[in-house]
Amino acid sequence: MDRLKVTSPAKLNLILDVLAKRPDGYHELQTIFERISLCDEITLIPNKSRKIKIHSSHPHVPKGPGNIAYKAAMMLAQDFSISEGLDINIIKNIPVAAGLAGGSSNAAAVLLGLNRLWQLGLNTKALAGYASRIGSDVAFFIYNTSYALGTGRGELIRPLGIKTKLWHLLVTPRVKMYTPEVFARLKLNLTNKKDSVNILLPFLRKGDIVQLAGSLSNDLEPVILSLRPDFIKLKKKLFDAGASGVCFSGSGPSVFALAKSYKHALSLRAKFDKRYTQAFVVSTL
Ligand code: C5P
Repeated sequence: MDRLKVTSPAKLNLILDVLAKRPDGYHELQTIFERISLCDEITLIPNKSRKIKIHSSHPHVPKGPGNIAYKAAMMLAQDFSISEGLDINIIKNIPVAAGLAGGSSNAAAVLLGLNRLWQLGLNTKALAGYASRIGSDVAFFIYNTSYALGTGRGELIRPLGIKTKLWHLLVTPRVKMYTPEVFARLKLNLTNKKDSVNILLPFLRKGDIVQLAGSLSNDLEPVILSLRPDFIKLKKKLFDAGASGVCFSGSGPSVFALAKSYKHALSLRAKFDKRYTQAFVVSTL
């Protein structure tokens, strides 16, 4: 194989429960991931340089070891004593540092792609093991599933065999939110009972949009809104445009509206404030 193209999708969190702070500094989570149709494109090209290089025309994509896609390739190259070089070309469509796990997905796509290109014979469990050493959100993308329950740091994945196809208007404001800062500012409410996943799942299975809309939740929302009080207006604008439900994804700033259909998602975008230039109609993938 002389080169390999892999698709690298984004995710949303339909539920993000933060259960506790752990001794290792991370937070114990319970989350429902949804894989969505907004995707980066990655091409893996062997070269003779003996070096791993990242190429992307996007200014905010790190080109060296700071990119976790690079880290993913290095881990496999070292463990399998692969000395041939590799160019990793990334066409970036997923906004960077936006709560959509674009970088994590790129790292997972590199693991999946190199497993084929270098014929490593790793199974899903082994690939997920590499993924969880790279970052909390990477393992979800190793599984070929539209939805999954994530626990632990988010890296323990249980695929959910749910076939429902959802439509969203996804809006990513052009501001930076730093995940460690958002988690660090969270005041945990330990008396909170966490039935949110069990409440949401039957509605998701049935594709009951009305009930699903009322069941979306993200425990990081109070922190996101305290950092950016203007996002209250952003949520209101999505409801005013006719959204069924509105929720932040991950540690923000991306916010998604639940739509009843593709047509409804298009009408949300048509009615929504045109000053938000990163507004995407997306569906479950
Ligand atoms: O695992 P990842 O590198 O993506 O996490 C980025 C940062 O987000 C961590 O360093 C930590 O500050 C925070 N985080 C957390 N609990 C999680 C996941 C991430 O506190 N479960």
